[in-house]
Parts: sequence; C-alpha cells; structure tokens
Amino acid sequence: MKKSFFLLSALLALGVNAKNNVAVNIDASNPGAKINKNIYGQFSEHLGSCIYGGLWVGPESPIPNKDGYRLDVFNALKELQVPLMRWPGGCFADEYHWMDGIGPKENRPRMVNNNWGGVVEDNSFGTHEFLNLCELLGCDAYVSMNVGSGSVQETAQWIEYMNAADGPMATLRKQNGREKPWNVKYIGIGNEAWGCGGNMRPEYYSDIFRRYQTYCRNFDQDKPLYKIASGASDYDYEWTDVLMNRIGTQMNAVSLHYYTVLGWNGSKGSATKFDNDDYYWCLGKACAIEPVIRKHLSIMDKYDPNHNIDLLVDEWGTWFDVEPETNPGFLFQQSTMRDAFVAAMSLNIFHKYADRIQMCNIAQVVNVLQSMILTKDDKMLLTPTYFVFKMYKPHMDATYIPSSVQGSKIIPVKNERYNGTMEEPENRELSMVSVTSSKDAKGKLHISLSNADLKEEQAVTINLNGYKAKKVSGEILTAQSKNDCNTFENPDKIKSEAYAKAKIQKDGTITLDMPAMSIVTLEVE
Ligand code: AHR
Repeated sequence: MKKSFFLLSALLALGVNAKNNVAVNIDASNPGAKINKNIYGQFSEHLGSCIYGGLWVGPESPIPNKDGYRLDVFNALKELQVPLMRWPGGCFADEYHWMDGIGPKENRPRMVNNNWGGVVEDNSFGTHEFLNLCELLGCDAYVSMNVGSGSVQETAQWIEYMNAADGPMATLRKQNGREKPWNVKYIGIGNEAWGCGGNMRPEYYSDIFRRYQTYCRNFDQDKPLYKIASGASDYDYEWTDVLMNRIGTQMNAVSLHYYTVLGWNGSKGSATKFDNDDYYWCLGKACAIEPVIRKHLSIMDKYDPNHNIDLLVDEWGTWFDVEPETNPGFLFQQSTMRDAFVAAMSLNIFHKYADRIQMCNIAQVVNVLQSMILTKDDKMLLTPTYFVFKMYKPHMDATYIPSSVQGSKIIPVKNERYNGTMEEPENRELSMVSVTSSKDAKGKLHISLSNADLKEEQAVTINLNGYKAKKVSGEILTAQSKNDCNTFENPDKIKSEAYAKAKIQKDGTITLDMPAMSIVTLEVE
C-alpha cells in the first residue's frame, strides 16, 4: 500500500499521469441506420477568403490552379472525398443575384458584400464555377436561393438554368458554355429567415416557403428536387414547431444551425489562447447539441410521425474571435485540438441520429470559422479538423453500430459563462471518452474514440460482443499542447499518423492505451 502510494507520488512528480480504465461496448448485433455521407457535407460562402483565395484564385493567378481552382486546396478536398457542398451562403445567399454571376467575366456586375466586411464582390465565381467544382470533386451541390431580397421568378429561373435540358434558361446556359444540365438536387429556400435572411416570423416564412417551393420545378421526373426549409437556430423550438405545422410535407427537410460559441454578444474568445476551463467549456457546449437535436426531433415527430421530413444541421462548428489583424468581417480563425474534439464529438452525435439527420455542413470549408483548410497567399495548411474528417471517412455511408462507454470520467461544465440571450439554463456534463462505430459494405468495423482529457491516459478495453476480430489497424491524432495549431511557418505540427498500438486479446477484446488529448480511429477486420 505504502509502496504503491510512493510509486504513484513519484510518477505524478515526474509528470506521468495515472491511467483511467474504460470499457467500450460495441453492439454489432444491433445495427442501426445508414450514416448518410452528407453528414460530412461542407459549406462554402462568399465570405472572407473562403471563395476568393481559398477555393478560387482564377486562371490567371500565379498560384498553381486548374481552370482557376487552386490546386493545393482542390487536392486536399479530393482526398477528403467531400460528399456535398453548400453555396453561396449563409447570409450572402439572401443578397445574391445569380444572373450577375454568369456569362463573360468582364460583363459581370459588381456588388457590395454587405454581410461580410463590405468588400466588393466581382461575381467572377458564380453558378458555373461552383457547379463545375462540385463535378470535379465528385460531390453533390446544395444551392441556397435568395428569398430575403430576391424573387420567386429569380429562384424558378435559377433552377431551370441549372437543371433544364431545354427551354430559355437551358439555351442561356448553353450559350455560356455548358451543354448538359447539372441536375442539382438540394435546394435551400432561404437561409436564417429569422435573421439575415429577412427577419421574418415563422408564420410569415412558412407562407413564403410554400409560395417559393411551388415554382421549384422538377425538370427530370426521375431526379426530383429536395427542398430544404430555413430552420431554427439553437434553442428556438417554436420556429421548428410553426414550420412543421404550416409547411408540412411541402418540404423534404428542415435545417438547424448550431455553433459552438461563447455567446453572440461581445468577445467569443481566442481560437488558440485558452485555458483548461475554456477548453472543457467549449467541448461541453459542442456536446450540448445532442439535447437540442432531440428536442427539435420530438417536435418534428408530433407532426411527422412517419419521419418523412429530415433534419439537417446545415451550419455547425466553432466560432471564436477572428485572428488578430484580420478583417473582423472575414471570420478567419485558427484551429487546435479543441476544434478537432468539437468535430469528433459532434460527428459522434450526428451518427447516433443517422435515421433522422441526413445532412450536416460544417462552417466552413476554407478560411472561415472551423475550416478544413487555411490559406495565405500561395501557402496552405490543413487544420486538426481536416484530420478528423479524414479519419472519419470510413463512416460515410456505413451502417451505424451502437456503442457505449463505461468508466469514463465525467466533469460538470458550468453554464454561468454564457452571455448570450439564446442559451439554455441547464448545466452540462462532459464525458472525457466518447466513441462511435460503424460497419462498412465490406463488413469491416470502424471505431472512432476520443480522449478529451488533457492529462489522463485511458486504458481502453473494447468488447466487440460477438464480432470476431482478426486484424486491427488505426490512425491517431494528438498534440503536445491543447493550444498548438498548424501555422503557415510550421504547417505539419498536428497531423494524423498510423497507430499500431491496439491489440486483439485472446478473449476477443481489443485493448489500447489512448494518450491524453487524442482521437483514434480503428479499422477492425
Ligand atoms: O457561417 C457564417 C454565418 O453564420 C452564415 O452566413 C449565417 O448563415 C450564420 O449566421
């Protein structure tokens, strides 16, 4: 007793922390729904340098590009197998007039991007540039219509332009160099209609939705549109209730926006300079999306017991203060392991509701909020969030396998830090270890585990409950310090690496020691 006490004290004095024992149960005999790959959707808005300098530099740029798309970013996204991309906003969508973004570049009118920094938008990236990019990436497009300041006619014509094989809009498209329709399926009827999309009441927006959707025509009966209503933010359950009641089956889905943000008034905190409390608070806030999802779903169930209408989290992610000396309207923020955990834990939750959540779009793909990629002139870096998306690729379109964790440390996350007006009053709890798992079409099991604990290692035993493991391999993401990030000077500080420390035991369990602050994905055959 005395000896072990002294040993523990000595180890702690050396900075070596005790291991915590955790049991993970994978219930392979009870498979759930297919995890729609669109849960891994991206969001690209005309905001800061997401489009210009991020995705697009133009064909004349000295930065290596293919037809104007910057190659380093394009290749990194290709590697991620992005399934779907939302465009052109966000708030920008409700000021965007699509006809300004087609035809010869020199004739395209300019506009002021009033939402984001008041910069002049030259419309050089428009419908063709976006939809061709999606085609090159092999991803679906999700296009948000301008409801706030546009017209029904503009919406109807845009869909005709993108999807009709023949007719006046198809002729115009062909004149602009594109013969075949793109067949865009996902159509957003406005964005944040309760705010930057027109400051509407839910009753009014519901009627507007019904009117707009009437003129969103199917130009190919085999490929019907999927119409998305601009949904609630966070805890605005009334918005969902009114839309479900008044729009009903005229929509295919209703959206939800949920940002991991300190509050909407004042400072949102630094993306890189934070203490342990900030770190845990942030993860607690990210995980608090789960009760929010449940409440919105239960309201939807009231009106749609057969689950014909999907819930889409079409904007989510961290939102901190912009990096010093950057334009406050550009929402350019750095990314650390804290963001990686927000990504992993949020995706774990989305998987759990895979029967109802059919799409999520992290905000945003490049240079804005919790992005995959940051660029500066000709330099590019991949964020820790990028590596989570990379490690989670096998879960796309795989079958959800329920899992549970026993023995994980749970800490309370106090709500008193909130200064926003939309916050829920409850306090929260955060589990240090979280897990998700799925089975792919080849029968391989993938298990993703997060150890958010800043100090403690986790000795994990995974019980596969009947699934016979013959081989296990893995990938790990971790960092020296919670505040570390990839910079343009040191872009490879945090990146995922092969992980070979998981072992299959004689009793069929898998064991592994997870370092503090790490994320692991295992492939089990
Ligand atoms: O992602 C940034 C902005 O956040 C979007 O434009 C808007 O929809 C939301 O408020």
